[in-house]
Amino acid sequence: MALIKWSDSFSVNVVEIDKQHQKLVGMINDLDDAMRQGKGKDVLGKIVNGLISYTGTHFKTEERYFDQFGYPEANSHKKEHSDFVAKVSEFKDGFEKGKIGLTIKVMDFLSDWLQNHIKGVDKKYGPFFNDKGLK
Ligand code: FEO
Repeated sequence: MALIKWSDSFSVNVVEIDKQHQKLVGMINDLDDAMRQGKGKDVLGKIVNGLISYTGTHFKTEERYFDQFGYPEANSHKKEHSDFVAKVSEFKDGFEKGKIGLTIKVMDFLSDWLQNHIKGVDKKYGPFFNDKGLK
């Protein structure tokens, strides 16, 4: 069963970004499935790397629009992104060195962070972007 179920409550009302968020939700669900199926470190590592890489692409997309439109809450939003990247990089290093396992606790952290972030700060820029013509 999927860890996160996409619904309209996640929509920021910008098609490109909703698609990216859907992809991120899908990747977290894939990672959760693989973890629960007891897949090996190599398989999990590849999914984690893919997730980190796509998260970076996604954050860059949002931040490019922040800069382009002069979004007033850009700095605090970017800080949330960089804090998350730092935390996940720390996890990745520990995972690769065999110090940290991929557990339900880790999955809950990723899942909670993404859902809270999208429904909290991401949704806030929706109307601002829409006013600038981005839909
Ligand atoms: Fe969709 Fe701010 O990350």
